Amino acid sequence: MVCLGNICRSPLAEGILQAKVDREGLNVDVDSAGTSNFHIDEKPDSRMIKTALTFGISIDHLRGRQFSQADFDIFDIIYAMDQSNYKNIIALARTDRDRNKVRLILNELYPDSDQQVPDPYFGGEEGFVEVYTMLDKATEVIIEKIKQNELR
Ligand code: 4NP
Repeated sequence: MVCLGNICRSPLAEGILQAKVDREGLNVDVDSAGTSNFHIDEKPDSRMIKTALTFGISIDHLRGRQFSQADFDIFDIIYAMDQSNYKNIIALARTDRDRNKVRLILNELYPDSDQQVPDPYFGGEEGFVEVYTMLDKATEVIIEKIKQNELR
């Protein structure tokens, strides 16, 4: 799960997907990163920690890290939150194999529509809840695909 800062959208996406992986007893490694180096080693944004907790998801333990080329060797699928993240990840890809791993996460929910998870950082409280709702729905589709062995 990749966004810009790795303190709002992607740690939430990681936390929600991890909770669903645990719920289903699946053997899947979930992680998140930011394309920027702005918030390395920082906790998620306190507003996102709070919103996640109201839905029973704890992301307090996560720390910011920057996406790197090595991630292409570790992960099978890389979800970008928006077009800017997508382009920044693709710019680091070395091969078609790397490029094929990169997806816009909302295309799981709304196929081929290229919708984006809005950056809540500079907005109000309601933006964080909106992001939660989007990521909760998208990760549910991802979990179903993993269970049906349809995620490829
Ligand atoms: P995120 O949100 O990409 O969802 O973690 C942001 C966090 C920090 C900044 C921008 C977006 N920033 O400019 O510091």
